[in-house]
Amino acid sequence: MSQFKSKEEAAESGVYIRKIQSFVKREGRLTKGQEKAIESNWETMGLEHKSGLLDMNEVFGRTAPVVLEIGFGMGKSLVTMAKNEPDKDFIGIEVHRPGIGACLADAQEQGVTNLRVYEHDAVEVLADCIADGSLSRMQLFFPDPWHKKRHHKRRIVQPEFVEKLRSKLAIGGVFHMATDWENYAEHMLEIMAVAPGYKNLSSTSDYVPRPEQRPLTKFEQRGHRLGHGVWDLMFERVA
Ligand SMILES: C[S@@+](CC[C@H](N)C(=O)[O-])C[C@H]1O[C@@H](n2cnc3c(N)ncnc32)[C@H](O)[C@@H]1O
Repeated sequence: MSQFKSKEEAAESGVYIRKIQSFVKREGRLTKGQEKAIESNWETMGLEHKSGLLDMNEVFGRTAPVVLEIGFGMGKSLVTMAKNEPDKDFIGIEVHRPGIGACLADAQEQGVTNLRVYEHDAVEVLADCIADGSLSRMQLFFPDPWHKKRHHKRRIVQPEFVEKLRSKLAIGGVFHMATDWENYAEHMLEIMAVAPGYKNLSSTSDYVPRPEQRPLTKFEQRGHRLGHGVWDLMFERVA
């Protein structure tokens, strides 16, 4: 960026500075089933970033607490949660198209109607589509850990990101993270410890036991058997 003070200033001079993204778009092939699930459910369950600010009451046809999940992968736990908590509405964001397809296929099979999805970068969806103070819970489960130190800047949990998230949560709303990578758990804790306006819900000021509402995935069960750890972190928006 050297001669520019900010990305905006660079953009004004016609210089494009590449954004650091938390994901690498994998070109996984869509199965026939995933493709079909997108075709038949996108109209009812798909949301578009380009449509701008979301009117949640209109989208879900009711007023209910809204839970937003970033990077839901294949959507297994998101669909289970939407099914288990019918009194809430769920929005999932994912960039991996086969994941979108798998999630919609699962939702259709389970008869879940309180779920909508974006196929887009969550950072942009948060900035452009989600109203301030509109979320009751925000979920980030097993985000890409970016193991190497030189890649830590790509981790989605950064001061700017958690501050943006806080503005989207209602006061009393909860930001729930989980990871199976200890160094990322410590990184999350470090960022959250100095983030203003949050209270750690851990009685030991670090991690919480896995709350009932987060389904135990097969991957996690296998990890348990192999003696691997999983760390859950929950922070409430207090200001
Ligand atoms: C390691 S996977 C975990 C998936 C899932 N939460 C689970 O527990 O199985 C992380 C997911 O986050 C998605 N992701 C990463 N950054 C994202 C972003 N900025 N917006 C939307 N999805 C993102 C990736 O595509 C990937 O599917």
